[in-house]
Amino acid sequence: MEGVIDVHTRALLTEHPGFDWTVTEFVRVVDARLPPRVFYKHCPELAGDRVITPHGIPVHLQLLGSDPAALAANARQAVSLGAVSIDLNFGCPAKTVNRHDGGASLLRDPHRLERAVSAVHQAVDGAVPVTAKIRLGFSDRLKALDCALAAERAGATSLVVHARTRDEGYRPPAHWEWIGRIRHALRIPVIANGDIWTLEDYWKARTLSGCPDVMLGRGALADPYLAPRIRHWQATNERLPVTEWAARAEILCTYAALQRSTLPERVVVSLLKQWLNHMRSRDPEAARRFQALRRETRLDPFLAGLAAGTPREASSLASVRQPTAALAT
Ligand SMILES: Cc1cc2nc3c(=O)[nH]c(=O)nc-3n(C[C@H](O)[C@H](O)[C@H](O)COP(=O)(O)O)c2cc1C
Repeated sequence: MEGVIDVHTRALLTEHPGFDWTVTEFVRVVDARLPPRVFYKHCPELAGDRVITPHGIPVHLQLLGSDPAALAANARQAVSLGAVSIDLNFGCPAKTVNRHDGGASLLRDPHRLERAVSAVHQAVDGAVPVTAKIRLGFSDRLKALDCALAAERAGATSLVVHARTRDEGYRPPAHWEWIGRIRHALRIPVIANGDIWTLEDYWKARTLSGCPDVMLGRGALADPYLAPRIRHWQATNERLPVTEWAARAEILCTYAALQRSTLPERVVVSLLKQWLNHMRSRDPEAARRFQALRRETRLDPFLAGLAAGTPREASSLASVRQPTAALAT
């Protein structure tokens, strides 16, 4: 997710078993082959021996563009740098992206979508899987099936379907039953996406779409234990307890510690506000803290506000009293 799921978020969200794979933010492809630094910036995991998070979950590289030759050249570049899978974004609803003919704008013409997927499929020549993500259409759903079939014909190995049109933005509801229609028509795996916030949503999306696999977006930020919650339920038929504020605060504080090593403090504060904003829709305590901290721009007071009343606050007070312990942690 652009501006949200970077290398640190991926690392934190995959710390506990739940996700099978993750995707980078999109690399915007216009007409040129981009230099390696762009790929390393979006996917620092490329620098490792394997393109995985610290907990071993594969990271797929996402490209967004419409020009088949440029997409092909950049897919080749990504593979030469070690990418293990190329994911093509045909879902982005952003006006600037669509005005420049990227993201969901290709849903207006399934032939163009097919040419884009096919060019990438041929360019990587079977070295890595090519996957695609679509919405149900641009303004209406008339071409939903044609777009999905076009992606399959062109060589996509799986397809994520965000169950809304571009014009529907992120407004509920997600039309999970439409994903079912697509799944019936395709041979490749179809993955259901959109509005999965809870275990119950997961179950409804799975039932209505018939898809065994789902992709989580905002729900995983709102509740970082959503994927482990689903996985645990699948394995045991039991529910994990609700995610307490202390666990959320712990994740946010760890995230800040990771980000502050490379980013200015005020940027880290905005990133924290962004994540807290996702959490507040699902957690009253997150909503209270968001309200209390929304004007704060200094990182340390912000972190103190997050940690107040949690075990993390107690441990940071202890480390103030014992400076050597702070150095050791
Ligand atoms: C801030 C934000 C950034 C996003 N960035 C991307 C992106 O880079 N690529 C993509 O395929 N989808 C992106 N999406 C869409 C999500 O992946 C997902 O399809 C959508 O939010 C619906 O799922 P959800 O209801 O579980 O969030 C983004 C969504 C949001 C809210």
